[in-house]
Amino acid sequence: MIHLLSDNGASGHADLFAQAFQFAQKQVRKLIDKHPGLYPLYTQNGVWDHAGPAWTHWCDGFLPGLMWIFHKHADKESAEGRFWLDNAVKYTKPLEARKSDPELHDLGFLFFSTYYRWYRITHDAALREVLIEAGRTLSHRFQEQGQYLRSFVGENSLFIDIMMNVGIIFYAARETGDRRLRDVAMRHSLTTRRVLVRGDGSTAHEGIFDTETGEFLRQATYQGYRGDSCWSRGLAWALYGFTSAYEYSHDSRFLETAQACADFYISHSPADGIPPWDFNAPPENRTLCDSSAAAICAAGLLRLRHLTPDSMRGHLYWSAAVKILRSLCEKQLAAADPKWEGILKGGVYHVHKGLGVDESVMWGEYFFCEALERVLW
Ligand code: GLY
Repeated sequence: MIHLLSDNGASGHADLFAQAFQFAQKQVRKLIDKHPGLYPLYTQNGVWDHAGPAWTHWCDGFLPGLMWIFHKHADKESAEGRFWLDNAVKYTKPLEARKSDPELHDLGFLFFSTYYRWYRITHDAALREVLIEAGRTLSHRFQEQGQYLRSFVGENSLFIDIMMNVGIIFYAARETGDRRLRDVAMRHSLTTRRVLVRGDGSTAHEGIFDTETGEFLRQATYQGYRGDSCWSRGLAWALYGFTSAYEYSHDSRFLETAQACADFYISHSPADGIPPWDFNAPPENRTLCDSSAAAICAAGLLRLRHLTPDSMRGHLYWSAAVKILRSLCEKQLAAADPKWEGILKGGVYHVHKGLGVDESVMWGEYFFCEALERVLW
């Protein structure tokens, strides 16, 4: 169970969080100076540029996403503000073609961190069109038999991660008034809730279906310990993803689901709020944590808090998020290691493939900074 803070919020930690935000900017500047044009996923021994495989290319939005966050909080007229804007645009534009990419289920990751943040500044209709097109493309993954958006691994497969991406379909539906898009997003979210979120608020990574009949067959996993375990990052994606589904749909079932995931996370995490890579990991590698799951949860809890009508419960989410952020700043920030190129240590990409284990991971950096943004401003 996370040890909640006794004080009233983030004010006592503002310096710690502000320093971490400064450090994050320093590391990203170094990354783009040292490896211009690189869109990394994870470090190897703390170094971003290496020959390790990607498995899938779902992370290219997070580096420009960090730049959009830094730009937002810089003085727009200053050299720093212009530096972040120029680079954010430079790293965002090459992603546009991915709006039509039929190969992967990660279009929300790619476009919410980039074109959405860009559009929020300029309100340029052409940027909005990119987002809408990405939503339409993702919607074509919908399987009528089974009622879900299929994952990149196959037609019979549903991933919990897709809850972080379905928001782009809700967005496209809202912007265009297209009822088919909204229907797809609703049905996918309801199926995910039914088959991947368990009664105690824990989650499975993957659902396997019979593609002929649409029957749900079993829970499975790629990155978690096993099919019936709770992969901590999957839980984090669910917490944040159902929060977004509720924001778009106002369907209270999604709020309840996000809260159930949050309550599981809070009650099953260690006191510092940084969970093992899988909540059911076996004893021999249970000490391996995933700082990225913690960062995603902190960002998700800070959104969920605003949507939670019960103020006591909302305060619990706020307090848990601040505790997680404090632990990340105190235990995982790479500031004391000048050779380490990432911001947060202790992230995990894929234990079974041995990719990015106990390393910096680009989505961890992004959601850490998003959570800092939410407590600092
Ligand atoms: N593919 C999303 C993740 O690794 O969490």
